[in-house]
Amino acid sequence: MEIVTEIQKLKRAHNAVILAHNYQLPEVQDIADFVGDSLGLSIQAAGTDARVIVFCGVYFMAETAKILSPQKTVLIPDKDAGCPMADMIDAEQVRALKKANPQAKVLCYVNTTAEVKAECDLCCTSANAVSMVRDVLKNEKYIIFVPDQHLADHVTQQTGQEFIAWKGFCPTHVKILPEHILRQKELHPEALVIVHPECTRGVRALADRVLSTEAMCSFAREVQVRELIVGTEIGVLHKMRAENSDKVFYAATEHAVCPNMKMTTLEKVLWSLQEMRHEIILPQETIYRAKQCIRRMLEYRA
Ligand code: 13P
Ligand code: SF4
Repeated sequence: MEIVTEIQKLKRAHNAVILAHNYQLPEVQDIADFVGDSLGLSIQAAGTDARVIVFCGVYFMAETAKILSPQKTVLIPDKDAGCPMADMIDAEQVRALKKANPQAKVLCYVNTTAEVKAECDLCCTSANAVSMVRDVLKNEKYIIFVPDQHLADHVTQQTGQEFIAWKGFCPTHVKILPEHILRQKELHPEALVIVHPECTRGVRALADRVLSTEAMCSFAREVQVRELIVGTEIGVLHKMRAENSDKVFYAATEHAVCPNMKMTTLEKVLWSLQEMRHEIILPQETIYRAKQCIRRMLEYRA
């Protein structure tokens, strides 16, 4: 409790806002001003009046906040909280893809480094990938999609658009197997199944809905069934349970844990505000170039 009081005090003193991803530890979600998916967090980061943003998530998310609010101080409580999927492609590899496919537009998942975004035409999140390809890129014949092969495959299944796709993946989501879903369905035959698009095709094929983490939360609030099987990182269950005391949520597997998302603790949030660390610093040129591709995504939504 003392830590929480101290965090709140420092937050006011520094005019800071705390943003947290849906996979954060429950106690971190509980002290945040906003908890959401990558799209929601980007919108918050772009619109906040605060002077300081404490970003409880992984590195690319804090970078995205810095790109959208370069005049603000953006802090990440643990600078080693990376996203292994985002690190599966670097700017050099994107440049090579562009050279090999000069006529192609480059679409990147938000789970990419700022340097990679700086090389891309357009950015998307799990919440808007399908609609953006349908609307914004409908006249494009060739599209490079980086880095998640499973999200790319999901978008292809939904839109018919083929991609020159990078073979990246999320090590946490590929741990969710079709047999996990089948087992949960057997145990809870009345339950609906919702999974994240980073899951493999075999898992997605067993789902009633394929949704971003925030869309999962909205679905959970609105759907009339009492039981849901959830195929994503288990952190999202905290919010779902808190918002729906009348419903029961089952993790597809308790092994779907993103260790990087769990690196942020309350202590680290406190130290972050006490010492203004770890500040996200990016070259102006990278901010400028990466901003174009994120802006196009945010404008599309508006
Ligand atoms: P969402 O944008 O759906 O929250 O997903 C982010 C992420 O890192 C999924 O693994
Ligand atoms: Fe990256 Fe997967 Fe963790 Fe999301 S769950 S941050 S994609 S490693």
